Amino acid sequence: MLVNGIHYRTIWVDENSEELICIIDQTRLPFEFVIKKIDCYQDMIKAIVDMEVRGAGLIGAASAFAVYLAVLRAPKDDAQFDAYIKEVASKIKSSRPTAINLEWATDRMLQAIQNTGSSVQRIKIALDQAIKIADEDSEFGRMIGIHGLPLIEKISKKNGDVVNILTHCNAGWLALVDYGTALSPIYAAHEKGIKVHVWVDETRPRNQGASLTAWELNAAGIPHTVIADNAGGLLMQNGKVDLVIVGSDRTTHTGDVCNKIGTYLKALAANDNNIPFYAAVYSSSFDWTIKDGLKDIPIEQRNGDELRYIKGLDNTSKIKEVCIIPSSSPVSNYAFDVTPARLITALITERGICNANPESIAVLFPEKVKNNRK
Ligand code: MRU
Repeated sequence: MLVNGIHYRTIWVDENSEELICIIDQTRLPFEFVIKKIDCYQDMIKAIVDMEVRGAGLIGAASAFAVYLAVLRAPKDDAQFDAYIKEVASKIKSSRPTAINLEWATDRMLQAIQNTGSSVQRIKIALDQAIKIADEDSEFGRMIGIHGLPLIEKISKKNGDVVNILTHCNAGWLALVDYGTALSPIYAAHEKGIKVHVWVDETRPRNQGASLTAWELNAAGIPHTVIADNAGGLLMQNGKVDLVIVGSDRTTHTGDVCNKIGTYLKALAANDNNIPFYAAVYSSSFDWTIKDGLKDIPIEQRNGDELRYIKGLDNTSKIKEVCIIPSSSPVSNYAFDVTPARLITALITERGICNANPESIAVLFPEKVKNNRK
């Protein structure tokens, strides 16, 4: 993705030191573009918890680099190393519970460094594997764009007009290592000259739509309008939405999709108005071990202050947080919800498009389903 004409990914190895991992601090967007350099796994975990890095794909890649940073400073003795890395892995995995990518990337890192020889060799293998995971994440996003593009193209040909797409939260470049999931087909369509306009749900409580998706779309020059979360239904009733595309933090092999809180309500409204509702998902965001998204996906509950306070620029252009809820009122802050497969028109994956059901998913990912869904 280009920012002021320079290509960035959301996480990368510092060009002057392999011991530093660079991230874009997403808590400062859209106000400031700040690059942070991280040199220990504890700080990478903190960046995940504080949502300086967020979005399922990116926190997967960040987890991989966290394991690498831990390996860099690990005890040399094998027995000590095993206990140490096990503890690190469990801390990383529990840093954010809903997105499966953390667990997937951490386990893949552990597997790669298993039974390695010297500590020097282990460091090299860990770095190579983390880079590979990041590269794959970016490539999955790119492929989702390629497979999702015809859906937009078809509507554009039929309408002969601008295609209006509604999206929720941020499932763009900032949520992955590059390209994004839900926004990737939109970027591909825009690049091909297809006229698109994006309705951007603000996405309370943290407003990743208003702050991050709007920022990304501005940077890419794509027409868009930020709307209050509850406006989507009205727009759909009035024929102002041609399709909905959202991302996913965990998808069951039966097609249930867990995404940012409020996604389910958009799916209900789309269903009621006969509007296609697509989820852009990829292999590392599938949980092959569970069947029932509603019952089995852990829903992250975050600090209530995210709901109590709103962050923005004051009239002196300083970033400020203001409280909007009576201090004595309790709040609850669920971060994700599950959209049942029956409300999803289709899944856009890195391998193509499939229906949100076990049979159709298994056709695209036969080896995952066969290998006991891992
Ligand atoms: O809480 P966040 O900002 O990490 O939530 C991110 C989302 O819900 C995205 O829509 C998402 O990760 C899907 S795209 C990989």
